[in-house]
Amino acid sequence: MFGKLKGYEEKDHTVCIEFEKGKGFIEVITPTIINFFSPLVSERRISKAVEDLQREHAPFTVDYSDAQLTVRTEKLTVTISDEFLVDLYDANGKRLCADYRGSAQPFVRRGSGEGLEMAAEEGHKIEAERNRQKVRVLKKMERDLYFYGLGDKTGHLNKKGYHYKMWNTDDPSPHVESFEAMYKSIPFLIALKEKVAYGIFFDNTYESVFDLGKENSDYFSFGAVDGNLDYYFIYGPSVQDVVGGYTYLTGKTPLPQLWTLGYQQSRWSYTPEKRMRELANTFREKDIPCDVIHLDIDYMDGFRVFTWDKKKFPKPEQTLKELKQQGYKVVTIIDPGVKKDKGYPIYDEGLAHQYFATDKDGVPYVNKVWPGDSLYPDFSNEPVRKWWASNQKIMTDLGVAGIWNDMNEPASFNGPLPDDVAFHNDGIQTDHREIHNVYGHYMSKATYEGLKKATGKRPFVITRACYAGTQKYSTVWTGDNQSLWEHLRMSLPMLMNLGLSGIAFCGTDVGGFGFDCTPELLARWMQVGTFTPLFRNHSSIFTRDQEPWAFNEETEEISRNYIKLRYQLLPYLYDLLHKGESTGLPIIRPLLLHYQDDQNTYEINDEFMCGEHILVAPVIGQGETSRIVYLPKGNRWIDYWTKQVFDGGQSIIKEAPLDVCPIFIKEGSILPLYPVQNYVGEKEVNQLTLDIYPLDKGGDSRYVHYQDDGESFDYQSGVYNLYTFSMKREDNDTLYIAMEKTHSGYLKEYQSFKFVLNGSHPSKIIMNGKSLQFERLENQTVFEVDDQADLTVELRNW
Ligand code: GLC
Repeated sequence: MFGKLKGYEEKDHTVCIEFEKGKGFIEVITPTIINFFSPLVSERRISKAVEDLQREHAPFTVDYSDAQLTVRTEKLTVTISDEFLVDLYDANGKRLCADYRGSAQPFVRRGSGEGLEMAAEEGHKIEAERNRQKVRVLKKMERDLYFYGLGDKTGHLNKKGYHYKMWNTDDPSPHVESFEAMYKSIPFLIALKEKVAYGIFFDNTYESVFDLGKENSDYFSFGAVDGNLDYYFIYGPSVQDVVGGYTYLTGKTPLPQLWTLGYQQSRWSYTPEKRMRELANTFREKDIPCDVIHLDIDYMDGFRVFTWDKKKFPKPEQTLKELKQQGYKVVTIIDPGVKKDKGYPIYDEGLAHQYFATDKDGVPYVNKVWPGDSLYPDFSNEPVRKWWASNQKIMTDLGVAGIWNDMNEPASFNGPLPDDVAFHNDGIQTDHREIHNVYGHYMSKATYEGLKKATGKRPFVITRACYAGTQKYSTVWTGDNQSLWEHLRMSLPMLMNLGLSGIAFCGTDVGGFGFDCTPELLARWMQVGTFTPLFRNHSSIFTRDQEPWAFNEETEEISRNYIKLRYQLLPYLYDLLHKGESTGLPIIRPLLLHYQDDQNTYEINDEFMCGEHILVAPVIGQGETSRIVYLPKGNRWIDYWTKQVFDGGQSIIKEAPLDVCPIFIKEGSILPLYPVQNYVGEKEVNQLTLDIYPLDKGGDSRYVHYQDDGESFDYQSGVYNLYTFSMKREDNDTLYIAMEKTHSGYLKEYQSFKFVLNGSHPSKIIMNGKSLQFERLENQTVFEVDDQADLTVELRNW
């Protein structure tokens, strides 16, 4: 395609290469991130994912000899040969990734004629023709490669051997492994081989595919039906570095308001108002914490977005005010489809200003969604985003606390949007093929910006469709799953891969959306939800009730206990999101993210880390009351329930009756805990609890806890506190625990600290030379200290 390499030129960070039949550009972004670009369609590049890119100082050298160009950064060597073939090596010359030298040779799908027609007639899916790609890159498949990332795709954690499509898709049938496309398109792949990782981010918004060795075991590939060749190679060597690099490009998940981490209850739909109030009261009566209630489409007047059905909600402002007094935040759904309805202000305004996507002749394009005939705002046009952003105020002025954006693939009931539906694309007119995958991304961006302006607080947006970089604007959920054990199982790799794809704040519909849940399934799903960033129970219209109390006392009690555990863990989860603002790391993580040297973790689908300290091995099979848990090498692990200590690098069998979700804490962990509250803000938290899992042998550990007002942007100008806790074991007898305030900026500091030592019974606790009172419980020792700028506690005679 490119022909022979003819020459090159160096410009700023870029090496421009001339080939016989085209141009190639290599741009050094950082010493470990390199962009490869060829203007197959246009020289002009406007990435929808990479905004405000800050380049690091990254010196590099360029050599040309034997028809090969070599670019060297401090960490990487890249060679480019004829045909724009790219090979990458680490600083020691070890090959990391090489372009495949042969040509593509797909496997043959056998069968033709009548048999094939009859199979199709019976309803068997006959694979559509592939390889319509205009842009395609083939990389050599090395042995022992594992693949991760790619957003919300179904199947297993490791994507090797599968083929995926990036085309945001709303398919309500039960999600199974054979789904190639889902609601989200995140064309970012992580490859891990022999403990070394790299990432590839293919920044192309057209329909694209990733074939990870399904077509042919000798290569893996990515490509798209149109657009430029534009991809980033992101070197690790750790997976953490790769996620860091990818989010350096596409942005980090911003710190949300604290209440967004509370429990959320949703259903299609809690209407009318009476039903919503009944729900709100039941949580409080039953002593089950809940922060958020979601209103699904039926609150609207005939599904007209930004309106209320006054029969169901006669005084929304008053209702929301009263719910707020009970501690609830209300999130309303807003879909993109605007009802075609003269006299409806949103429609009239949109039409008057030409804000809707049009057909190729400029006539506003109409398809069908919930309100019937509807038009699609052209979010790829800045004035439309501004208009949509300003509409958020209609909701926030009434007291709405967050916005749930749905159906933004965009979904359509009258067949798919034709390829030639026209979009403005911020001045570079294009069609649906290029905008489809970023439609939800742009909608979330507009919603985020509108909420920020209207409230001045950290916006809470939830979206179903997204593209790379949407994490900057919105949390996501995995769409219409079903109340199936298989969907609980699959939610774990989906959430882990979303996390690796930059989406730190994500969740699934707890209990399942479609189909009827069972008490046992809800109990097990609640246990998983406790550790998922977005903890929202949601179910479809006409399915059986799915609130914590909808089944029986046992399910209610289990739900209550786990939701309460969630509220205790709030500061830990909030700390993770705060750290994630600089590292890009998610809350829910595959074990391999922390145990890359332990290859046993590479294919673990049914366990996950919640941050780096908590390992969760949920039960995800009906009737199961015990399970095998793999504890990774390199640490010792403490059973959260029994306090029994286990060496890492082994599988154990954990008894797990219905009320037990197997949880293991890494030895040396210091977990910050809050008291249980009905909702965030119910109690003034003056005392922080430190749940400590002491080091049994020598060593030390550290934990940094972050505190702020939980809602405003003031933290960005220093209004926050940091507390650094550390633990040191010098000999067998003495454990030192220290606290240091490493940043003081937020006035409401804690007044005291409660230390809970798990599984240990010291005989003496000394602070500043004086003995401290302590309480001894069955397998814990508890003591309290008042706020001290810097504190050291010595625990003697261990
Ligand atoms: C879609 C959403 C679902 C919602 C329903 C009605 O199916 O995915 O969450 O309840 O629409 O708005």
